[in-house]
This record gives sequence, C-alpha cells and structure tokens, in this order.
Amino acid sequence: MNLDSTIKETAKKAVNLLLKHEFVRIYTHYDADGISAGAILAKALFRINKNFQISFLKGLNDFEPEDVPLSIFVDMGSGYSEKISSINSDVIILDHHRPDGDIKPRKTFFHLNPHLFGIDGSYEVSASGVAYIFAREFGDNRDLASLAVLGAVGDKQRFTGLNGEILKEGIELGCIEVNRSVNLSSGKLSKALTTSFEPFLDFYKKEDELQQFFKKIGIEGDKEVDELTTKELQKLADALALRLLKIGAYEGVFEQIIGKRILVKNLPIKNSITLVDIVNSCGRIGATSTAFSILLGDEKALKEGIEISEKFKIEILEEVQKKRNEVRDGFCIRYLVMDDAPSTSPVATILSRYLFPDKPLVVLNIKKDGKAKVSARTTEKIAQKLDLAEVMRLSAIKVNGIGGGHRVAAGASIPSGKIEEFLKEVDRLCCVMLA
Ligand code: C5P
Repeated sequence: MNLDSTIKETAKKAVNLLLKHEFVRIYTHYDADGISAGAILAKALFRINKNFQISFLKGLNDFEPEDVPLSIFVDMGSGYSEKISSINSDVIILDHHRPDGDIKPRKTFFHLNPHLFGIDGSYEVSASGVAYIFAREFGDNRDLASLAVLGAVGDKQRFTGLNGEILKEGIELGCIEVNRSVNLSSGKLSKALTTSFEPFLDFYKKEDELQQFFKKIGIEGDKEVDELTTKELQKLADALALRLLKIGAYEGVFEQIIGKRILVKNLPIKNSITLVDIVNSCGRIGATSTAFSILLGDEKALKEGIEISEKFKIEILEEVQKKRNEVRDGFCIRYLVMDDAPSTSPVATILSRYLFPDKPLVVLNIKKDGKAKVSARTTEKIAQKLDLAEVMRLSAIKVNGIGGGHRVAAGASIPSGKIEEFLKEVDRLCCVMLA
C-alpha cells in the first residue's frame, strides 16, 4: 500500500506506545464506521494477545476519564480537544473528524487523523481506514481491509485516495471483490427497493408505483437481487436512474449507487450494503454488542441483527413518511423538529439527500432529558462552500451545547429550551457561508 510516509511513521510510534502497555481501554463510535474500526482493533489485538476493553459511545459529550494507563479513542476525539486534554493517561486518537483546537496532552499522545497529514478525512478515509493503518503496523492484518472498507461504506465515502489503496489491498488479498452491479441490499428485489435507504427510492407504502416499476422493466419483484442477470441489472440501473431523477435526489447519486458493488468476502454477509445496514441499525438502537459480535463472526448475533435491522428500517421509513410534510423552511436551511423519535440520523440523511437536497437540513430531536439531539446534513455539492461541522460547533457553543462532525454530516447536543436561538444561528451561519 502506497501510504503517506508521515502518517505511517506516526502509526508506528503509536504502535510502540501500544506495545508498552499490558492493557488498552478503547472507546469507539456507535455507528458502522466506529464499530468496524472497533472490530479491526479487537481482531488485531487478539492476535497479539493484548488485553483490552471496548465501549461504544454516542460521543464524548458526557465522557468522564477513567483511571487507565492507555486510552484509545476511535472515530472520535479529534474534535474534542478540551476533553482529551483533561485525560491523565497515555492517549492515542484514531479519528477522521476534523481536528478542533489544540490538544494539550498530560502524558504520551499520538494523533492519527488524515486531516493532519493533508488527506481528506471526510471522503477519502474513515476511522476504520485509520484503525486499519494502525493495525497494519503490529501484525499481518491485511485481511482486515474488508472491515476498513465496510466502515467507509458506512460513512458514505469515496473509494479514491487512501480508501482506494485499502480497497486495492483487499482485492489483491482476495478478501474484497468489486462487481459491476447496482448498490442494493441482497434479498428479494421488491423488499430491497422498498426498504433501501441508500438509495432511498420512495416506494414505501407505494405498492402500485412499485408494481408499475416492475412491469415497465419486465422483472419480477420476487426475484433475488443477487440472481439478476447482467441484462436485468442494466435495465434496473436505467430505471433506478429515472426514479432518482423523478424524486429529485442529490447530484452525484448515480455514481454512488450505480456501477459497482463491494463484496466483503471474509465477513458474515458478503454484500457490504446489507452488512452496513445491519450494523448501523444495531448501533442506532443501542445493540452495539450485537453489531460488534456480528463483525467478529458470531452467527447467533447475525440472526438477531437481521431482525433488528428489518424492524429498525421500517420504523425509520414510517418516520420519514410521517415527517416529510413537517419540514420547515428557514432562509438558507430547512429544519424538522421531532419529539423523542427513535433516531434522527437516518431520517436526516434520507430527507437531505433524496427529498430536499437543495438546502442544508437540520433535524432536531427533543429528548426527555431536556436536551435536543441535532443531526445536520447536506450534499457534497453544497459542502464545497459550507462546512456543517463548523456551523454545528459554533451554533452549539452559542447555546451552551456541543457540536461538530464533518462538512456534509454533523451534529450537536443542545438544551431543548434553546432550539429557536440555535436554529437562528445555524441559518445565519449557513447564509454567510453560502453567500
Ligand atoms: O449523530 P449524527 O449521525 O447526526 O452525527 C453526525 C456526525 O456529527 C458524526 O460524525 C458525529 O460524530 C458528529 N457529532 C459531533 N458532536 C455531536 C453530535 C454529532 O461531533 N454532539
């Protein structure tokens, strides 16, 4: 792999620190990228008999440092300089969120983040990729490239730059395969089209439209996605492109959805889209140990994960159906306020990429604990001018909250009494950046 030598050097130094310790405390994010990164570390650490404990967190807002000699923060940490600076132990950060502020370490500290090495962490390498680069330095862990790629799929990244290198390494080793196909989940075509989030095709509870769609392309909805012939796949791809145009999906959707499909051949489900869906669903409902066990190869967990995912997807589709008419217009943003909804992130992603892609979208979920969880999303095109991570960070600070993330996908946690003030600031900042 043609790695930038400076990121590799830092990874080596961080590994030397790791090897000095008997025990490692790992904190990772609860989404598909964070859980895949956690699985990479767990597998690699098992192989060198290193003891560890791993926790899956929503973020570091409520994080209290523990009395441990070495903490590793994965898919989080870079944006929380104050929290990290308060830790009285050795620390390694494996993250791809944009670093914010100076970290003043109290003990030995290594920060492995693509942004610090001139690599775009929003699109070209995820936390799983960073964890993989780290794990490669303490053993032959190249078979974990499939997990690195899975995390990048979860974060909707591109397979150029470092991700492209990791993909190539996995293909060469035989643990990854790339097919010409359509990026859909495995299973019956009708179910795959109805319950897909990426792409979201707006067929949920639109049975007549779905049947018409099948009639037009001359393919039975009962057919298995994985058994479609090349000719059928071509017809399907054309019809999906038309459907996405009709819905008004974001620019760039075709390259993401149509063309190639990544198979992770040494993981329990080979279709990366299906596996990401399952891992994400488990993470979102709090079943992180199920998601983690699936990636470590547990079959019972996989069965459980499939059930969780099916239920979760329907819940989100219901939510989108109910709330799409409640999306309100600001000046430069759109927003939606929800009350104790099961999960804001997938709702925000679907609405912002497929139904309202022309303005940044902010979804606020008022929780019972007096806080509102915010998910902000926009398209790559708008993010060329606007940085949602910065918008979330600054607007949250203004109302005594905390926020951050990526240019296209960011979030915040704010006091629920301050929603109006927060939205006003978000709108103002977006207008300034887009001007
Ligand atoms: O929760 P959600 O999926 O909307 O988060 C989007 C991104 O924003 C994630 O990368 C997450 O780490 C980041 N975020 C953050 N601070 C928060 C909430 C989310 O940095 N308080």
